[in-house]
Amino acid sequence: MYNVAIIGAGQLGSRHLQGLKKSGSPLSITVVDNSVDSLKTACERYEEVSAVGEKKVEFSQDINQLPLELDLVIVASGSKPRAAIVKSLLNHSKVRNMVLEKVLFPKLSDYDEIGDLIAEKNVRTWVNCPRRMFGNYQQISHLIDVNKPIKMLYAAENWGICCNGIHIIDIFMYLTGEKDYCIDTSKLNNQLEESKRKGYIEMTGRLTLTTPKGNVLTLISEDNYKGEKGEYIDNQDLRIIVNEVNGTWITGGKENSYKMPFQSQLTGLLADCILISGCCPLTTYNLSARYHKPFIKALLAVYNRVINDNVDLLPIT
Ligand SMILES: NC(=O)c1ccc[n+]([C@@H]2O[C@H](COP(=O)([O-])OP(=O)(O)OC[C@H]3O[C@@H](n4cnc5c(N)ncnc54)[C@H](O)[C@@H]3O)[C@@H](O)[C@H]2O)c1
Repeated sequence: MYNVAIIGAGQLGSRHLQGLKKSGSPLSITVVDNSVDSLKTACERYEEVSAVGEKKVEFSQDINQLPLELDLVIVASGSKPRAAIVKSLLNHSKVRNMVLEKVLFPKLSDYDEIGDLIAEKNVRTWVNCPRRMFGNYQQISHLIDVNKPIKMLYAAENWGICCNGIHIIDIFMYLTGEKDYCIDTSKLNNQLEESKRKGYIEMTGRLTLTTPKGNVLTLISEDNYKGEKGEYIDNQDLRIIVNEVNGTWITGGKENSYKMPFQSQLTGLLADCILISGCCPLTTYNLSARYHKPFIKALLAVYNRVINDNVDLLPIT
């Protein structure tokens, strides 16, 4: 049996847990959360789905009760405790594979520190920006000619640009095949809003990212946004329109449908892939950290300007 663990069993962690129950591999799962309420909900959600193959589950409030050797750990806490959780975990257990939730960390200094730690401990690590696992983006990536300019627009009312921006950045980088970008925050509004997750903030406005090859991603999240809404990918003469709500993408007048799977439908596949082959379609830690850092740095500067301070922690998750 493989030893696997989920640390942070809230809204998303409990869905990862349901997904693990659907994995084809024999799993002994330990779920760790410091909240008894979260553990209770996670246990209820676990009971809602039927197991594929052999599964064992235990619930705990203490990382130190985890097995000393773990084949896979998913860290699905919010961003603030994530770095400390990873440090405690790797101090306690030998971990072979790890999946970390986005937003990775709220402090810039954590990115290299955790990067060095997972390299030293030899932990294969990925970040859960799952769009690149979806069939539509894999098909779209085959249609795109990366030698022609790529312009992508993602625009809607209040979709949580701080919390979800990294998902769109990840898929844009996947489609362009690039690794770096610079970011213009001048059109973000100088005000903060409460995130739907307690203790974290959101912003509204526009962000423009430009890559070294001149590819451009525009993210728009505004109150009462009246402009063109949706997701558009332009590659010179080719226009692709993705509708994530309906699960369709259109190009050349042809509508294609795809399924945007729930996390509970993805995690089992992900676990099997990692446990059996040691690889997975998610972005590796190093690459995702490279996508996260300019985003965190730029938004932290806006945050400090708005709160008129000079803190090193950007409370987004
Ligand atoms: N990849 C995706 O598509 C996706 C989707 C939704 C959420 N997320 C991310 O997942 C993370 C969690 O989101 P959520 O909505 O589940 O939040 P949540 O608040 O519901 O869950 C977080 C859980 O972590 C637990 N926790 C906090 N500190 C802990 C610690 N030190 N040890 C153990 N457990 C601890 C909390 O008790 C809580 O149960 C966020 O970073 C969020 O952005 C990613």
